[in-house]
Amino acid sequence: MSILVTGGVGFIGSHTVVELQNAGYDVVVLDNLCNSNKKVLKRIEAITGKPVPFYEADIRDRKALEDIFAKEKIDSCIHFAGLKAVGESVEKPLEYYDNNIAGTLVLLDVMRKHGCKNIIFSSSATVYGDPAVIPITEECPKGQCTNPYGWTKSMLEQIMTDMQKADPEWNVVLLRYFNPIGAHKSGTMGENPNGIPNNLMPYITQVAVGKREELGVFGNDYDTPDGTGVRDYIHVVDLAIGHVKALKKIEEKAGLNIYNLGTGTGYSVLDVVKNFEAATGVKIAYSIKPRRAGDVAVCYSDASKAERELGWKAQYGIREMCEDSWRWQKNNPNGYDD
Ligand code: NAD
Ligand code: UD1
Repeated sequence: MSILVTGGVGFIGSHTVVELQNAGYDVVVLDNLCNSNKKVLKRIEAITGKPVPFYEADIRDRKALEDIFAKEKIDSCIHFAGLKAVGESVEKPLEYYDNNIAGTLVLLDVMRKHGCKNIIFSSSATVYGDPAVIPITEECPKGQCTNPYGWTKSMLEQIMTDMQKADPEWNVVLLRYFNPIGAHKSGTMGENPNGIPNNLMPYITQVAVGKREELGVFGNDYDTPDGTGVRDYIHVVDLAIGHVKALKKIEEKAGLNIYNLGTGTGYSVLDVVKNFEAATGVKIAYSIKPRRAGDVAVCYSDASKAERELGWKAQYGIREMCEDSWRWQKNNPNGYDD
C-alpha cells in the first residue's frame, strides 16, 4: 500500500517524501508543478536511494485522479497541494478558492469513491487569526483570517470535520503548521520562492547571498520585548517527521484529530536576524519599515498535544534552522533553476 503525497514536489512535501521513504513507506507523488520544479524528485532519490513514482497532475482534474487511484494501491493521502501566497490570494480570491477548496473537494470525492478514507491535511496557525491565547493550544478558538488563503485553510478544516462526522470511517488529521524554515542537511533541498520572497527566512538568505540589498523589518512597535513580531519557527525536517508520526493516528483509525506543529518557542524578527548572523557569520543589513497589513504581534504554539499523542517533538533549534537555510541558499543561489 502506498501513501499519495499531493504537492510532494513543493517545499514541505519534498522533505516529507524523504522522511516517509526513510521510514519505509511507499510513496506516490502528485503535483501540477505550478510552484515547484521537477528536479526536486532527483534530489529526493539521491538522498533516499529510492525511486519516487510521480504523476504530473492537478487535484482539480478528476479523470487524472481516478486514473491514479485505479492504478496505484493508495492507503492514505498526505495533502499538501495548494496555493499559499497570502498577498496573491487577496488579489485573486477566486483562483485561491478554486485551487484549494474545489481541488480538495475533487480529491476527497475520488478518495471516497476508491475506499481511501485516510487524510492528513496541511493546515496553518493562520486559522487562529489574532490568537485568543498564547501559547496557542488546539482548543484556542479559530479566529478571523485576514486573507482568502487563510480562509481556504479554515474552511477546508470545517469541510473535513463535517465529512468525518457524517462518515466516521474517515480518519482525518489536521496539522496546523507554525512557521516552517530550514532545509535538508544535505544542502540539496530547500525553499524555492518565486520572485521577491514574502516570508522572513527566504528574504534573509537572499540578502545574505547578495540577491537583495536589505531586509525590511515590518514594524518595531508591537507589544513584544523588542517591538518586532514574534513567531514559532520550526525546522522543515521536524515538520516532515511530524507527518510520519501523524500516520500513527491513521493506523489507529482514530477519527478526527488536530495538532499544532511548532516548537513552542517564539522568536522576534530581530532574534532571527541575530541568530542567523551568529550561525553563519554573515551580516544582514536591515531597516525598520511600517507594519505589514494583516500581521499579528505574537504567534507561537503550545506543542504538547503532539508530543503526548504522537510522540513527536521538534528536535532542531533556531541555530540549525539558520545554518540549514543558509547552506541550501549558498549552494543553490537560484534554487532549482540552475
Ligand atoms: P509549496 O508551494 O512549495 O508546495 C505546494 C505544492 O503544491 C507545489 O509543488 C505546487 O506545485 C503544488 N500544487 C499547488 N496547487 C496544485 C494543484 N491544484 N494540483 C496539484 N498540485 C498543486 O508550498 P509548501 O510551503 O510546501 O506548503 C505545502 C502546504 O502547506 C500548502 O498547502 C500550504 O498552504 C501549507 N502551509 C505552508 C506553510 C508555509 O509556511 N510554507 C505554513 C502553513 C501551511
Ligand atoms: C505568513 C502568513 C501566513 C502563512 C505563513 C507561512 C501573513 C500575514 N501570514 O505568516 O498566513 O501561513 O506566512 O507561509 O502573510 N517579516 C519582516 N520582513 C519580511 C518578512 C517578514 O519583518 O520581509 C516579519 C513579519 O512581519 C512577521 C515575521 O517576520 O512578524 C514572520 O513573517 P512571515 O515569514 O511572512 O510569516 P507569518 O507572517 O507568520
